Amino acid sequence: MSRIDLLLGQMTLTEKLGQLTMTAEGAAVTGPVSAAADLSEEIRRGAVGSMLNLYGAEHVRQRQRLAAEQSRLRIPLLVGLDILHGHRTLFPMPLAEACLFDPHAWELTAREAAREAARDGVAMTFAPMLDVSRDPRWGRGVEGPGEDPLVAMRFARAKVRGFQGTDQGTEQGTDQGTDLSGADTIGAVAKHLCGYGAVTAGREYASVDISERTLLEVHLPAFAAAVQAGVVAIMPAFIDLAGVPMTANASLLRGRLRGRLGFEGTIISDYNSIGELVQHGVAADLSEAAALALQAGVDIDMMAGAYLHGLPAALQRGAVGMELIDAAVRRVLRLKERLGLFEDPYRHCRSPEEPAALAHRRRLARQVASRAIVMLTNRADTLPLSPATRRLAVLGPLADASGEMRGPWWSAAGEQDCVTVLAGLRTALPGAQLLHVRGVPIEGTDDAGLAAALEVCGGADAILLCLGEAALMSGEAASRARLDLPGEQRRFAEAVLGRARALGKRVIVVLFAGRPLVVPWLAEQADALLAAWFLGSEAGNAVADVLIGRTSPSGRTAVTWARDAGQVPIYYAQRRGGRPADANDHYSSRYIDVPVQPLFPFGHGLGYARFTLSELQVSPAAVRPGDDIEARVTVVNEGARTAQETVFLFTHDRLASVARPTLELQDWARIELRAGERGTVVLRVAAEQLRFLGADLEPVFEAGELEILVGPCADRTRLLAASVRLIGS
Ligand code: GLC
Repeated sequence: MSRIDLLLGQMTLTEKLGQLTMTAEGAAVTGPVSAAADLSEEIRRGAVGSMLNLYGAEHVRQRQRLAAEQSRLRIPLLVGLDILHGHRTLFPMPLAEACLFDPHAWELTAREAAREAARDGVAMTFAPMLDVSRDPRWGRGVEGPGEDPLVAMRFARAKVRGFQGTDQGTEQGTDQGTDLSGADTIGAVAKHLCGYGAVTAGREYASVDISERTLLEVHLPAFAAAVQAGVVAIMPAFIDLAGVPMTANASLLRGRLRGRLGFEGTIISDYNSIGELVQHGVAADLSEAAALALQAGVDIDMMAGAYLHGLPAALQRGAVGMELIDAAVRRVLRLKERLGLFEDPYRHCRSPEEPAALAHRRRLARQVASRAIVMLTNRADTLPLSPATRRLAVLGPLADASGEMRGPWWSAAGEQDCVTVLAGLRTALPGAQLLHVRGVPIEGTDDAGLAAALEVCGGADAILLCLGEAALMSGEAASRARLDLPGEQRRFAEAVLGRARALGKRVIVVLFAGRPLVVPWLAEQADALLAAWFLGSEAGNAVADVLIGRTSPSGRTAVTWARDAGQVPIYYAQRRGGRPADANDHYSSRYIDVPVQPLFPFGHGLGYARFTLSELQVSPAAVRPGDDIEARVTVVNEGARTAQETVFLFTHDRLASVARPTLELQDWARIELRAGERGTVVLRVAAEQLRFLGADLEPVFEAGELEILVGPCADRTRLLAASVRLIGS
């Protein structure tokens, strides 16, 4: 008889429900965080099986001892934490990392985060966040991979492999994978299933009402990729999808996720989301909510105390059967077994790493951060800064703001742990005089520092403006209806820009934000504009590396930048419609007051070199299912220095049984070329990848002509075009 069968046969109802209960310190298990409650007794009596928001080897060891040594059945605790972009060493926020278009880098940073967390008491991370987002009003886009489903799929696979060690999945699903008990691995939780990024009006936690096609084509693929990569757990989103809360959505959780995708892992509710089924209006009380969630397939109740306190009554009244509870307990015990917690409950409670490991991690953080920066504009080659720069005005509320460089979800990183822009520049330009004035705060009306900032412009060789959002103006519960710079920053920036113009000096703007801010006026007036998102521990060094030209910026935006908030939601993969946008046709799909084009398209990003693409060759001319399409394009670096170019391959199926988006990303590749060097980029698309959902929402491979478009971003005017003929199966 297996360990799990043995345990199950001995467990009382409380001990079973305890394994389905995840809570946090200071939160009585009777519900969300309430009066400070010491959990020791609940852990000892087996009423708590998992904890979140807990880390630190000694701290976790104390709690683990209560479960693994003092509880009746000695079932170890599972400890989870939101490690989205690093634990003590922070990498760039996921949206920033997506701008590398580099799955290997995505995997490396997850690996390093796992190494740090796995010795700090943490066995599982509530990451990767895989919500595709096309609405910058929503604050959580910064936590995810951007607007494109293919990027999200590759991001999902890379992050699951990084956190969990290797590709745990097999065709059947997650449970055939090898164990996860490696010293440096942690379990990954793909979140938040599904469609959360499409909340109504970008308003956090609001209802989501999208077509099933959009759900299946845009929002679900990344989760399918995570399941294929062997992710051990999935977290449903807070939201209701067309009226059915995800936490009670049996059709998606049991039908689609476990049934069609073969997911055999654990489903963990979001924070109190079972309790919130009452707020949604689909459960009269906690007991009904618990029954709905269990029936839908949710295994672990995070923070609601609904299973522990609600399921006994549901059992009593026959709303659920013990077999459902046992099945959920089995999955949780299996997860703990795979994480090696039964073999060694203290496996994640280890001594800190040697300094060399930390130094390596910081170097990686710096390299990834510098590659996440997207240079949006660079008029007259303002950047890189001249080596003769002796006096640099460093202005703005984000110039010396270590805590803000973390971005949201900073796990164990401290307020002073990140290198600021000012500090990075001091290191990079030891001979230069840095004239630092904050000028205005990130938000609020205080403009007392404006005069002093204008004052220092006079004596500077160049002016650097560090503007943007605070770390917590994006992430959870941070939707914004206005997408410009917060506070008085715009007035401050325009005053500095005006003074600089009068003085004939150039202004470089570094924008820190968790979303593509709507700043056409800034793009228009600045001499150079860099999107730095939130870059983590090495932010300041990475920005300095790009500003002084040690690194050529290579980031490419993974989200479209709107020219006006009224264009939102805005994204490149849209269908033509019956009256495609035509500036010369009044009766076409456009606005009468704003252009339809974005400020910057998906994939946009400049570097310190100029690349030309030519000689696109696509083969074979006739493509059958099972074939691979290969596109080769010549790339020349016509610039004066080594730099990286990212080349995208889109398709457009002009005539199909269902109208298709005018551009669909199918592959991308990066190439590094020295000044004057010529190279060839090869991009491949398996014909199978060209299946799309027919009118019946089932995958179909249709014969006909397919456009192949290759180039630097989702701007059709900049793409080389060819076509192939798909031959039906
Ligand atoms: C939060 C978030 C989720 C996170 C969880 C635990 O409310 O929605 O992303 O993993 O609670 O912190």
